[in-house]
Amino acid sequence: MRATVGIFDSGVGGLSVAEALHRLCPSLPIHYLADSAFFPYGDRTADEIQERTVLIVRRLVDEGANVIVIACNTASSAGLERVRAEFDVPIIGMEPPVKPAVEQSLSRRVLVLATAGTISGQRLARLTERHSADAEVVTIPMPGLADLVEGGEIDGPRVEEMLRHALEEPVAEGADQVALGCTHYAFLRPVLRRILPEHVDLVDAGDPVARRTLHVIDEAGLEVDRAGAEVEVLCYATGDVTAFESTVDRLRAAGAALPPLRISRPVA
Ligand code: DGL
Repeated sequence: MRATVGIFDSGVGGLSVAEALHRLCPSLPIHYLADSAFFPYGDRTADEIQERTVLIVRRLVDEGANVIVIACNTASSAGLERVRAEFDVPIIGMEPPVKPAVEQSLSRRVLVLATAGTISGQRLARLTERHSADAEVVTIPMPGLADLVEGGEIDGPRVEEMLRHALEEPVAEGADQVALGCTHYAFLRPVLRRILPEHVDLVDAGDPVARRTLHVIDEAGLEVDRAGAEVEVLCYATGDVTAFESTVDRLRAAGAALPPLRISRPVA
């Protein structure tokens, strides 16, 4: 059986993961569902997000996906265990890249940027406990930052101000790693690179998750026509499709790396 990967996020953030997967394997069919009617997940309760996660995974599976990537740290934190128990397709989740950030840190001080939902979740607490070793891991909630990205704003004074405000002090105190714990923030790499000192590394989970997805596809015995022609990522949004399209246009215009997309009518 051929692999079809279903990827979802609350909005455009997971497109950064879809881009990484498409870059590794351009012929792999990907269905992308943006739950934009319920954006932002970061401010919702864990129960609410869990219910949405079940619903969205069911929709992707019903529409033919046989591997799922939850390209959202907040939804993975709230719902990964539940959907793994409920569905028998392989499901890959996202978590803030604490482990590689700790491994790379020379100063033993690591920052994690994420939504309030991810930061208050037990999943991140467990992850930090398991991997922080002798390093200090400082979590920084960024309310409103994913909202700017969701509006297509990935640079400019508002974004810069929010990031400077959050990062200036902890970086001055010696942090040398910034782990991006929200898929929306992957699009902020250029502005982050500009405002952070050179010795501070940015750690993103998009590429590792894409590699892991291909590995899981192999393990599951699903086929991928690697020599096949490049395909577009088929995109749906649960909210206003025109708003989703205009965000995508703004992201592209601002230089964000995106895969080729075919944006479809909203899911009822
Ligand atoms: N992209 C989502 C994540 O990785 C969060 C955005 C939101 O708040 O909905 O956590």
